[in-house]
Amino acid sequence: MEKIPPVKGTRDFYPDQMALRNWIVDGWRAVSQRNGFVEYDGPIFEYLQLYTQKSGDEIAGQLFSMTDRGGRDLAIRPEITPTLARMVNQQINSLARPIKWFSVPRLCRAERPQKGRLREFFQWNCDIIGSDSVYADADCIYTAIDYLRSVGLGSDDIVVKISSRAMLAELLKHLGFAQEQLDSVYALLDKRAKLPAETFIELAKDKITDEKLRDKLFAMLDKLQPEDDAIGDKLDKIIKYAPDSKHVQQLDGVFYYLGKMAVADYCEFDINIVRGLAYYTGIVFEIFDRKNTLRAICGGGRYDNLLAGLGGQQVPAIGFGMGDVVLEILLSEKNLLGHSQQELDFFVVYDDYKIFEEKGLPLINQLRKRGHSAVFDYRRGAMGKQLKQAATQKATFAVIIGQETKADGNVTVKNMAEGTQQVMKIEELPDRAEQLTGS
Ligand code: HAM
Repeated sequence: MEKIPPVKGTRDFYPDQMALRNWIVDGWRAVSQRNGFVEYDGPIFEYLQLYTQKSGDEIAGQLFSMTDRGGRDLAIRPEITPTLARMVNQQINSLARPIKWFSVPRLCRAERPQKGRLREFFQWNCDIIGSDSVYADADCIYTAIDYLRSVGLGSDDIVVKISSRAMLAELLKHLGFAQEQLDSVYALLDKRAKLPAETFIELAKDKITDEKLRDKLFAMLDKLQPEDDAIGDKLDKIIKYAPDSKHVQQLDGVFYYLGKMAVADYCEFDINIVRGLAYYTGIVFEIFDRKNTLRAICGGGRYDNLLAGLGGQQVPAIGFGMGDVVLEILLSEKNLLGHSQQELDFFVVYDDYKIFEEKGLPLINQLRKRGHSAVFDYRRGAMGKQLKQAATQKATFAVIIGQETKADGNVTVKNMAEGTQQVMKIEELPDRAEQLTGS
């Protein structure tokens, strides 16, 4: 029989990879909590329509979809934001605002697998629903930076590129674009940094047939290219295109608050950030490695119309998603990877299986009942081998049950790292285990 390989673009999490994944997720969870977010989750599949209606063509083209036996069209979740909007809509009147929720869903997108992009991945989501305050925008961006900073990534390693779709809309209208054209212009601009220049120009010709308008757009974008000058200067340039813009003021506010929260070094205004998803309405941002060799680590923004668009009330919202794949590549490049160690407290070693069954198995039950991990050899192997096994499994202590256990009820408890040992009555060990393991 031929061996069946794993599906391309998926990952197997053997214990080492699982320890790494858990470390990443534990970090996400801890940072969510300290920033005031509470956890939620939803189903792994939804009605297909939930994604085709509001997420936009890009996501719709990457769906793993299926039809159930009742003929209903379903899709595995490619993102959790529509589920979140659906769930909040269901209970909107009983939820205290702002709703600050986080989740770490497993997502699937039928993308072409490539460096940093798989067909199955985990994505940390933090969303703030029910506030249109610029404080919420800044707090949301701060949370993403707070995590990245906590794992050792500095402002030399990563950059948060921030813009505003609402502001871009104003600029585009000022140039002469009609409201109905905006969505296709956003989709086009989102591709700008991802496509080779010639391919992009061809696509632009296709999407914006009016040559004059197209030229005006490119002239404006060229003028607003990110430089090293201060955000204020760049916004001043923008104000010339869109005087009295409240959206420029808001963007300015976000940078001001992020400065007060001491993370301004990480942040830059970048007119090229538009985001691929259709539902964004205001501030949008993406996080990249400074060298710009990897795909985006994180992306998010304000989506004030999504809840209403899915049949709910008009409730403002902002959030982000950070995937585990690019993050892991970057942390590995920077030598910053950790892992969540699963510790083994006790390995119970024995020579006479009868004594072990009489005294050792009840001891193991007592230790486990108190929450300590305890294992033993199933093969009744030689004691030396069992001690080796204890070392291989990185047990903190080996508990030796020998002839003296039978004679006077004593066991030897050996600290494997230090090589020290102490003798105690077997009945005493469960009570002393907490002090020994420090847990
Ligand atoms: P997104 O930009 O589609 O946004 O994804 C956000 C992040 O998820 C990306 O920056 C990347 O780290 C990761 N990601 C996306 N696709 C893949 C893939 N195929 N393989 C590995 N990682 C991937 C959203 O999903 C929005 N729903 C985020 C959001 C939440 N906006 C508001 N709230």
